[in-house]
Amino acid sequence: MIETPYYLIDKAKLTRNMERIAHVREKSGAKALLALKCFATWSVFDLMRDHMDGTTSSSLFEVRLGRERFGKETHAYSVAYGDNEIDEVVSHADKIIFNSISQLERFADKAAGIARGLRLNPQVSSSSFDLADPARPFSRLGEWDVAKVERVMDRINGFMIHNNCENKDFGLFDWMLARIEERFGSLIARVDWVSLGGGIHFTGDDYPIEAFSARLRAFSDRYGVQVYLEPGEASITKSTTLEVTVLDTLYNGKNLAIVDSSIEAHMLDLLIYREAAKVSPNEGPHSYMICGKSCLAGDVFGEFRFAEELKVGDRISFQDAAGYTMVKKNWFNGVKMPAIAIRELDGSVRTVREFTYADYEQSLS
Ligand SMILES: Cc1ncc(COP(=O)(O)O)c(C=O)c1O
Repeated sequence: MIETPYYLIDKAKLTRNMERIAHVREKSGAKALLALKCFATWSVFDLMRDHMDGTTSSSLFEVRLGRERFGKETHAYSVAYGDNEIDEVVSHADKIIFNSISQLERFADKAAGIARGLRLNPQVSSSSFDLADPARPFSRLGEWDVAKVERVMDRINGFMIHNNCENKDFGLFDWMLARIEERFGSLIARVDWVSLGGGIHFTGDDYPIEAFSARLRAFSDRYGVQVYLEPGEASITKSTTLEVTVLDTLYNGKNLAIVDSSIEAHMLDLLIYREAAKVSPNEGPHSYMICGKSCLAGDVFGEFRFAEELKVGDRISFQDAAGYTMVKKNWFNGVKMPAIAIRELDGSVRTVREFTYADYEQSLS
């Protein structure tokens, strides 16, 4: 038994997502790039590489990881590059996407050897959560003024538009793409490629992937562009659990169980977006609030039901723990960082990374 806490990536479950991505690539002609901001655990890149076209990034370190650990096509994007990093970014990338016209103008010459693109902001998005809404008022994420973009068309041959956010609704995707076409269609017809970003939950069980693929192909044919998708969450959804152990139980008006992990440190996105973790099955007569071991009062994974009373030493699996978890884990309170383990296709489990006191110590100085 591996000592908890640890993230457990199940390759069979990951393969299911990969097969759906491969299907969409084949039917639509779109290329699929893994968004490293969501998931960058390179021990499973061997499997992912066979089904995807490469990676996209948000920083120098991500683009380097994409080039070195994944290979294939490597896109560079960042909200802003600094003078001290642009040369290295360009050295790792096949394409670079600038977030603003001023970044493009500043670095176009340095990036002259690779394809250059610009991020467009269509000012519509599927997000209802202000924090994650690229189309929020005064958003810094991309250019929206067609006349301004017109003036730099000679410097670019592609666009990136990321305005979907956890979007499970094909109708909404389709409607937003139509708004993008109305607004930017004349510009899109003049470039070679368009990335439609991530945030589209097309690997979900009920997602109409045939209609989605047909829509992408029609878009690509209409404008004569290579379409890219940048699935983060859709690549790894439901592939991974966070395995934890109960350290203590108490009753303070409710049954509480404290585990050897922390939502603040190991599943931070849930805390930021005020969501609960998932436990499955979540049924039975015994209800518990599952709490993390950091000092944060609100370090709570959620309230779940169990068949038996929980006791010290019991193990709990939090479902769907791949996206925006391992890339965001931190050393708050010095809580032990979860190891990373992989369930291979033959069912065997191997630990690929453990974190020690030395890692904690060396993260500071
Ligand atoms: C530019 C860009 N591409 C891709 C993604 C990946 O999104 P998701 O993990 O929701 O698919 C994001 C997420 O923020 C993004 O900003």
